[in-house]
Amino acid sequence: MKLQIAIDGPASAGKSTVAKLVAKKLGYIYCDTGAMYRAATFLARKNQIAYDDDAALKKLLSEAEIRFVPAEPEQKVFANEVDVTKTIRTPEITNNVSAVSAQPSVREILTKRQREIAEAGGIVMDGRDIGTTVLPHAQVKIFLVASVHERAVRRFKENQLKGIDTPLDVLEQEIEARDYKDSHRKISPLTQAKDAVLVDTTSLSIDEVVNKIMEIVEKVQK
Ligand code: DC
Repeated sequence: MKLQIAIDGPASAGKSTVAKLVAKKLGYIYCDTGAMYRAATFLARKNQIAYDDDAALKKLLSEAEIRFVPAEPEQKVFANEVDVTKTIRTPEITNNVSAVSAQPSVREILTKRQREIAEAGGIVMDGRDIGTTVLPHAQVKIFLVASVHERAVRRFKENQLKGIDTPLDVLEQEIEARDYKDSHRKISPLTQAKDAVLVDTTSLSIDEVVNKIMEIVEKVQK
């Protein structure tokens, strides 16, 4: 049986790293829904639309194409034929994506696209509301958490490889601010689904987290 696997949790808890590895092991598609919200934020900026202008964002996104293109070592993200894979990770986008993702029309449009992508199963989808809203019937639901400090250290290391120099204490503040906004917005806030398995990755290696998830997947497949 081809499963739907939902992986939710706060920023930098390791969702995308483990989701990609789990997808690879199973031969499933990986869908990074955060990248879709980031691409929407990129399009808003490019078109000079305010990040909280729901009506203008609705028009923009109903005509926009946000898609993933398989590539090595990582799949690419395109917004209206522009490769935005790198741009969507810059601080300008990271610090404004919570505002865009809180808009009702943005959530409605992207949730619909995400359900279409996941429809046939064989998918690992990561985000904030996958187990609660996008795929409430997913057979496997994981809620990944880690301490703020640990998450800031991880982001710091990732940033260094990309040549981004934000200090660690600033990253901690940004992560706390984003956690707060993501968990307090009106629509589909970040919360653990009742039937999700909580995995705290603070003191676990990537392999240990992947193995834990694979054990859960194997139980469901039996
Ligand atoms: O996972 P990420 O950091 O790339 O996500 C970027 C932002 O997108 C995050 O701050 C909240 C938003 N998001 C969301 O609201 N719902 C999702 N399913 C995924 C991300």
